[in-house]
Amino acid sequence: MVFGLFKKKEPVKVTIKGTGETFMCNPDELLMKAAFRQKVDWPHSCKVGSCGSCRATIVEGEGKYPSSPCDPTTLLHKEEMDNGMVIACQWVPTTDVTVDVEIGKEGDKRGMV
Ligand code: FES
Repeated sequence: MVFGLFKKKEPVKVTIKGTGETFMCNPDELLMKAAFRQKVDWPHSCKVGSCGSCRATIVEGEGKYPSSPCDPTTLLHKEEMDNGMVIACQWVPTTDVTVDVEIGKEGDKRGMV
């Protein structure tokens, strides 16, 4: 028998680098949405993947952009993506992650010029 085929998805743990604060992200839940659900003051503006102010660097762990209209290449430089930077309002962690983000700061609205 192959048990892995029907493995139930579990929530993943998100750890904020620097403060050590943690919160849980449900399967297929957007990183920033999970942060808001748990009253984490994540930097943001548009919430729809067009301003870039929610970006954060994934220090450890993996994730994906689900079928979203967001194209991170329009908001992030290739070097930033290579270094683990993501658009948190459009990105879903698929493993436990450690993320570098300045909680409580106003994001840099790169896309809104
Ligand atoms: S809040 Fe604007 S891109 Fe995420």
